[in-house]
Amino acid sequence: MAAQIRIHELTFVPFLNADQIQRRVAEMGREIAAHYQDKQPVFLGVLNGSVIFLADLIRACAIPSEMAFIRLRSYAGTQSTGEVKKILGLDITLENRHVIIVEDIVDSGRTMAHLLEEIATMHPASVAVATLLLKPEMLEFPLDLQYVGFSIPPKFVVGYGLDYNGLGRELPAIYQLKNPPLEE
Ligand code: IMP
Ligand code: MG
Repeated sequence: MAAQIRIHELTFVPFLNADQIQRRVAEMGREIAAHYQDKQPVFLGVLNGSVIFLADLIRACAIPSEMAFIRLRSYAGTQSTGEVKKILGLDITLENRHVIIVEDIVDSGRTMAHLLEEIATMHPASVAVATLLLKPEMLEFPLDLQYVGFSIPPKFVVGYGLDYNGLGRELPAIYQLKNPPLEE
């Protein structure tokens, strides 16, 4: 059995192993490829969390595509702050493009709702969302999510791009918080 790990002061236990993740990402890639053949979509990654997933997803998808990135922030530590800040804007136009927003995780949905509104003003040909993880019980904003890797319980997770205060992104597997701190 894989061991638990520590990041900063918190302990995490194994949740999704690298094989499970890779198999699911490969399936998502094939599904997206079937829908976007000949459309040359733009994969729009939300930095930093989506980087690892996006890198694997576009290779699993294996159709001509472009990538672009945007940076937003709504999390501090293991809690959503309730406010979405745009830290870095887009350097390409999305007008008439088929856009696939790529996220590591949709939690309250605030970040995604905000982003979808903003992308809509850019007149893309179409917009879809690919998120590796979804915490359905945490959703506060109604969202149409076309590609969801795994629906997971409402516990904080790290690994495969997801961080806890900056650490844990490089882990090939995903770990779940073991002992929530007393103040939660
Ligand atoms: P939302 O706006 O509440 O949906 O939060 C989305 C963002 O919060 C994600 O893009 C992540 O960066 C971060 N986030 C939400 N849940 C987790 C988690 O369990 N681990 C790490 N980051 C998370
Ligand atoms: Mg994120």
